[in-house]
Amino acid sequence: MSNQTLHLPLVPLRDMVVFPSMMAPFVVGRRASILALEATLASNEKKIFLATQKDPKVDDPSMEEIYPIGVIATVVQNLKLPNQNVKVMVEGLTRAEILSQHESAGGYTSVVVREIDTKITLTPEISQYMTKLVEIFEQYAKMSHHLAFEGVMSTLKLDDPDRFADTLASHILITTPEKQQLLETISPYERLQKLQDFLEVEIEKINIDKRINSKVKKQMERAQKEYYLNEKIKAIHNELGRKDDRSDEIEELRQKIEEAGMPKETKEKATQELKRLEAMPGVSAEATVSRNYIEWLVSVPWKKSSKEIKDIELAEQILNEDHYGLEKIKERILEFLAVRQLIKQPKGTILCFVGPPGVGKTSLAKSIARATGRKFVRLSLGGVRDEAEIRGHRRTYIGAFPGQIIQRMKKAGTVNPVFLLDEVDKMSMDFRGDPSAALLEVLDPEQNNSFTDHYLDVEYDLSKVMFIATANVVHTIPAPLKDRMEIISLSGYTHLEKLAIGRQFLVPKQRAEQGLEEARITIEDTAIEELIDSYTREAGVRNLEREVGSVLRKVARQVVKKSDYEVTIDRKKVRELLGKPKFRSQQIHDKAEIGLATGLAWTEVGGEILSTEVALSRGKGTLTLTGKLGDVMQESARAALSYVRSRAELFGLDPDFHANLDIHIHVPEGAIPKDGPSAGITMATALLSAVTKMPVHRDMAMTGEITLRGKVLPVGGVKDKILAAARAGLTKIILPAENERDLEDIPADVREKMEFHLVESMDEVVILALDGTIVPLTPKEKLTEPIEPPITH
Ligand SMILES: Nc1ncnc2c1ncn2[C@@H]1O[C@H](COP(=O)(O)OP(=O)(O)OP(=O)(O)O)[C@@H](O)[C@H]1O
Ligand SMILES: [Mg+2]
Repeated sequence: MSNQTLHLPLVPLRDMVVFPSMMAPFVVGRRASILALEATLASNEKKIFLATQKDPKVDDPSMEEIYPIGVIATVVQNLKLPNQNVKVMVEGLTRAEILSQHESAGGYTSVVVREIDTKITLTPEISQYMTKLVEIFEQYAKMSHHLAFEGVMSTLKLDDPDRFADTLASHILITTPEKQQLLETISPYERLQKLQDFLEVEIEKINIDKRINSKVKKQMERAQKEYYLNEKIKAIHNELGRKDDRSDEIEELRQKIEEAGMPKETKEKATQELKRLEAMPGVSAEATVSRNYIEWLVSVPWKKSSKEIKDIELAEQILNEDHYGLEKIKERILEFLAVRQLIKQPKGTILCFVGPPGVGKTSLAKSIARATGRKFVRLSLGGVRDEAEIRGHRRTYIGAFPGQIIQRMKKAGTVNPVFLLDEVDKMSMDFRGDPSAALLEVLDPEQNNSFTDHYLDVEYDLSKVMFIATANVVHTIPAPLKDRMEIISLSGYTHLEKLAIGRQFLVPKQRAEQGLEEARITIEDTAIEELIDSYTREAGVRNLEREVGSVLRKVARQVVKKSDYEVTIDRKKVRELLGKPKFRSQQIHDKAEIGLATGLAWTEVGGEILSTEVALSRGKGTLTLTGKLGDVMQESARAALSYVRSRAELFGLDPDFHANLDIHIHVPEGAIPKDGPSAGITMATALLSAVTKMPVHRDMAMTGEITLRGKVLPVGGVKDKILAAARAGLTKIILPAENERDLEDIPADVREKMEFHLVESMDEVVILALDGTIVPLTPKEKLTEPIEPPITH
């Protein structure tokens, strides 16, 4: 019977080893295995060959993926399960080795195996050895709780070392490869030795487990499985004398917490979190969250601060170094700095620079940082619509992180930076909460020493931060925020100012950026003027800077090959480099036209020229307004019409002129929404021009609100409007008399070129603007003599 070869169906086993003399249940599911099983059941002896797969995850293992030594077994029971699987009970018979393998026609693998003879005779020595193993096994069984020693003991055959070893092997909890190793150990004596080794290791493991368990139990309030296993791994590592990989990381974090200079409560919180982290498995998602949190806590500045410069004279010098002109602005900044220094705990105002793009709002804030020795960070609020962007998400959110305030503070690295809140007027609000409410807390000196970010979840002191805000317009800044701010308005620059800024600041800056040597590149004033007049049209100098940059870039490219170059850039060279001018220098209408008047508007980008057109057609007295006019502007159009009607006779019109006319007022450039009352006199003028057929002087621009009775009321943004008129080449300006004060702000070079007409009533506007003689009809007493032209400034 020994060394016999047999031809048997094969069933590969996943993650289990069947020993001879062992009864084992398992479920057969793979199709090939079920077919093999069916072939077995159809045979007389019901024998099958069981061999274990090396990798339990492989579905269709090749012969190389199966251990060559397995066991011949008989199927003693089988039960078809509802899901087509078959549950079987097998009894292991003998070890055998696979000699060859065949694909059987039945759709399964069959193998030719040779039985391995493992019988030995019992010697006293082996007998003794077995007795010892029984003892060890008894100890193991008692400790491991999962098996009843007596039960196993009754099956152990002390007169057959081979079966003894196999029975024992099938009862101890070792890994599948370890079991396979026992199966492959042919000599029972050797097998007994291996068993002893395994048992001793297992016993030691259980002992370690117990030690750990008692340690772990004390700390295990939350009885977490993960926690428990992790503690176990750590303790096992300690037991093996291996240092825990994570202890370095934990130690490092502990050190950082120590050094961060946090307030007491925060430090406690961080330490507590570190303890939690220590208890988690290092690679779990929870640990990542915990680790990130601690990293954030230790990386925001708690104590570190820049040494502030308190020298006002030095500050003044720095402001002058960085910016041309802006005298009044700089003066106010210096006052502000001086006041802040006098008061120990400066509470209250936040500077807010308001003005068109490119006038230096952002760069002034940077300059203030430099002048006070602080770090500079900037947060653009344009488009921020969610409170969480300011204040962060709670840590319970997946992927949560701190809000922008805390993120910037981390970037600043100090507790006292200049913190620029750029574009506060561009913040919006939606269902996710009002960001301005969060910002209010940031800016409120009563509260900002204990700002809480949802993520950090500890109080953070922002009271040493110098907040500065910027905006293009005031009216969209949320009111509660505006109340905390000291508004400093910047207007656009004049041609001369731009020239000076270009010459002294932009050219040197851009030249350095392009790596060009000053001595070799000369930019003449005519070149800068050409850029100002023909390539840009703006209140600030942002585009001018860009154009200067692009001229210099082009030059740099041309001279890059030459070691010896010298370039002078003048007006002509600019045209050569940049091509066709982007703007006509004059925006004046070519000729005086009927029904067309030029107004001055004030928008986010500074002053603007805004034409108003009026067209008349036969109709029934309807008034149509187009060009995206806001409510206020529509009302002032109606007021203008009322004025014209009330003065109809005065202008020689039929009092009912309007009854059979349709009037269309249009303000072109429809993409820009326009609003405000300041176009009132412009619309009235265009209307009158249309109905009287008298053209409007083409170099005349105007701004002013109109009442129903024709009174002209003052308007805002006069300086920017006048600068826009100057840019467009308009020299005659009609302004409300009450705006006379604003003329002081107009730089002399512009004022000199302009002719200002200050008016109190629309009647005066009409006489100034319309090209023609107004012949008063009735009532005669009203206008017997031509109206005196108003004072010219
Ligand atoms: N008076 C000035 N002297 C020197 N450089 C200036 C002056 N005003 C502006 N600049 C320069 O013009 C460029 C644009 O200015 P900045 O970015 O500060 O504009 P801004 O007012 O913040 O515009 P925005 O509203 O678009 O943000 C910067 O390089 C700045 O240094
Ligand atoms: Mg800016």
